[in-house]
Amino acid sequence: MADTSLIRPDGAATDWTIPQNWGAYSQEDHATWDTLFERQVRLLPGRVTPEFLEGLDVLRLSKPGIPDFEELSDRLMKATGWQVVAVPGLVPDDVFFDHLANRRFVSGNFIRRPDQLDYLQEPDVFHDVFGHVPLLVNPVFADYMQAYGQGGQRAAAAGAIDRLSRLYWYTVEFGLVKSGDELKIYGAGIVSSSSESIFALEDPSPNRIGFDLRRLMRTKYRIDDFQQNYFVIDSFENLLDQTLNTDFGPIYDELHGASDIEIEAILPTDRVYTRGTQHYARTKDG
Ligand code: PHE
Ligand code: FE
Repeated sequence: MADTSLIRPDGAATDWTIPQNWGAYSQEDHATWDTLFERQVRLLPGRVTPEFLEGLDVLRLSKPGIPDFEELSDRLMKATGWQVVAVPGLVPDDVFFDHLANRRFVSGNFIRRPDQLDYLQEPDVFHDVFGHVPLLVNPVFADYMQAYGQGGQRAAAAGAIDRLSRLYWYTVEFGLVKSGDELKIYGAGIVSSSSESIFALEDPSPNRIGFDLRRLMRTKYRIDDFQQNYFVIDSFENLLDQTLNTDFGPIYDELHGASDIEIEAILPTDRVYTRGTQHYARTKDG
């Protein structure tokens, strides 16, 4: 993800990339990856969209240890023309968009400490690679991510980055997708978290409502805990169709000055899959 108030560290290139320096990971680092990996592959079958599992397979991500980005990029390049490049952490919006627009996914090169298995503020290599990269093997999702990068450059010019960021949040990070009568997870923030992989699908607390672009662009989100609301897409094809083939310029104009929708609100126009109890958020917020 991106941030606007960052200073490029010494040693990072002008595009903010750094060498992954794979040889510098310790045994403990690799063991942390393996622990997280095993936990997720036990949880995900039946919960995650099948395209994700296929991506894990094509990329041979079950090989033990933190993936070497060169090897990973070789496989990904053959599948959909994407690469994975290392960065020190969050990067500015324009840098982030430019990488995506050129089919480069930026990943933090560090891994969380063993005492941070469940919660971490900055995206590390497990979140970035395990969470995001498998779906880049899917040609439709791969196109969506590139289009998002191009859309970012346009949104920046239109002063509408906040609108577009919500789209990223509610799809790429925390999206659910319909699969027959069931819902599956696909967002990277969910699939890289053992507790949210269960919460997002099975807990009665959050709302789950059908994807609606304008509605979504007005909806707040929280970055500090489980989501209170998830948007459900019909399919990746449908998501791509509603975004790639829609000019957001007029939508940004139309939404200019529109009020925000509270995170737990349900509108009469919503396609509701689950009307959440919100008990989790209420207990937590006191
Ligand atoms: N079509 C969008 C625009 O006009 C760009 C976009 C495509 C954004 C796909 C997100 C995802 O800006
Ligand atoms: Fe992410």
